[in-house]
Amino acid sequence: MVLDRFLCGFRLRKILYELIAWARISSITAHSKNLKVLAIDEASETFSAGVRHYNAICIICHLAPGLKPSDLSVGLYPQAPLFFKRAPATNQEEKLKIIKEYFWVIKNGIKMTAMPAWGSTHDDESIWIMAVFVHQLHGMTAEDYGALSVVGHDHNDHQYDHNILPLKNF
Ligand code: HEC
Repeated sequence: MVLDRFLCGFRLRKILYELIAWARISSITAHSKNLKVLAIDEASETFSAGVRHYNAICIICHLAPGLKPSDLSVGLYPQAPLFFKRAPATNQEEKLKIIKEYFWVIKNGIKMTAMPAWGSTHDDESIWIMAVFVHQLHGMTAEDYGALSVVGHDHNDHQYDHNILPLKNF
């Protein structure tokens, strides 16, 4: 009896969660459809700075190839997706669609989940760069990730930048 009720509750929760997920995906697609992707030079220092942003503030939840789960990432519900486990887009149109959706999510966050909105602390350019980099992570191996010149450098400096952000607002 108790088990029945538990299973019923569990199933309802699953259906409800799937409905919310469906509504969220439709909303992200609709909101991002007409965005224009910013042209970005992936070899530039600005791009490297954007990748450092990802390493400083995103990997605690989304991890990166070769990184062990963090205590925080393990406890998330819903779980944060691991981008490197996703397949890269197979054509340019699909790639741009994914990047636009990522931009929208990074800027606005996802309600009722742990995904924060980064739009109030980051300008559009750095958000576009993170969106492009998140797609670059699709299918990336630990070796490729370790070989990125920005990984492991300036991490502390960058953390520091982020830590002092709130102070600037006082
Ligand atoms: C505190 C944890 C946390 C942090 C930090 C975080 N995210 Fe997320 N993020 C999540 C969770 C949880 C989801 C999944 C929400 C869901 O299931 O809808 C998510 C979803 C996303 C998505 C949508 C993925 C999809 O399914 O298409 C993108 C893109 C994303 N995050 C990028 C980032 C970037 C870039 C950063 C750093 C600037 C970041 N996130 C920082 C928790 C986090």
